[in-house]
Amino acid sequence: MATKKIIAVVGATGAQGGGLVRAILSEPKGEYTARALTRDVNSDKARALASQGAEVVAADIDDVQSVKRAFKGAHGAYCVTFYWAHYKPEKELAEASAMAKAARETGVEHVIWSTLEDTRKWLPLSDNRMPTLMGKYKVPHFDGKGEADHFFTELRLPMTFQLTSFYWENLIYFGMGPKKGADGKLAIAMPMGDKKLPGIASEDSGRCAYGIFKKGRELIGKTVGLSGEQLTASQMVVALTRALGQEVRYNDVSPETYRAFGFPGADDLGNMFQFKRDFEAYYCGARDPKVARSLNPALQTFDSWLAQNAKRIPLG
Ligand SMILES: NC(=O)c1ccc[n+]([C@@H]2O[C@H](COP(=O)([O-])OP(=O)(O)OC[C@H]3O[C@@H](n4cnc5c(N)ncnc54)[C@H](OP(=O)(O)O)[C@@H]3O)[C@@H](O)[C@H]2O)c1
Repeated sequence: MATKKIIAVVGATGAQGGGLVRAILSEPKGEYTARALTRDVNSDKARALASQGAEVVAADIDDVQSVKRAFKGAHGAYCVTFYWAHYKPEKELAEASAMAKAARETGVEHVIWSTLEDTRKWLPLSDNRMPTLMGKYKVPHFDGKGEADHFFTELRLPMTFQLTSFYWENLIYFGMGPKKGADGKLAIAMPMGDKKLPGIASEDSGRCAYGIFKKGRELIGKTVGLSGEQLTASQMVVALTRALGQEVRYNDVSPETYRAFGFPGADDLGNMFQFKRDFEAYYCGARDPKVARSLNPALQTFDSWLAQNAKRIPLG
């Protein structure tokens, strides 16, 4: 049997990386095998991946030597950072730099960097349409990732830059699900006006990444934007109402109101939605679902995701 090509996956116990590992494992006769990176090889999630056939190895993206060990011998590396674990763009920059160096030194042949736009290219800090945050960012959890792209290009790595979309799982885990207002009615609050929000099942982001590795050379040097469907918030509440069997309304708050919600990261997310709203043509255009479907024919729509997941959405 020919030796399989190893894909080393950062964030393997998480959403994007987990989707990629499961996609690779779902084709046991395929050309690739999954090496799952985790800080804790004994966690339940790590053990589950091992029992499904992944090679599970210890690595911490804050420790470049551990990443080098984990990338050694790999054909591909999937690189992602975890903004919401620390809320520090500078940490994402350092981690991206460490992963790029590790990929260079180990001679990985195809690297995917799960990045996002540096929104300051559209909205320089001098632009007063939204506040500058942390002194030098507009959307900190986007800008740090976009700024970090240069670490990969400067080392002339064989790159594909992946732009993913709003996970529909945010309705389950991220406090963005329908909440009861003073009138007792369920509503989702989002400053999107009548503009479309590209969304995706996070599992599909990983499945598409597998599609990128399978296409290989064709996608090296390219940026690939992913979404499962692009819907306005009004269209999302129609689908939610149908799936939940109770009315959900759209509370079209202003970005200012959203930023003032006061939960950690509300200002960052308020700016993020405003960026998506005000640059809809660019943002949606960069994430054509046809591209994602060509990489992952089983790509879910919002309705198909809801059919599997509506029951998991907490109704506050
Ligand atoms: N939510 C959205 O809609 C959305 C959309 C687009 C992009 N994003 C971006 O996606 C990124 C997160 O990706 P995700 O959602 O796939 O992550 P996730 O589900 O939160 O995954 C977290 C995993 O990352 C691992 N991890 C955390 N810190 C680590 C470290 N220092 N070294 C190695 N592994 C570490 C953990 O694994 P172990 O505990 O096993 O080590 C954990 O299981 C964020 O930066 C976010 O901005 C999110």
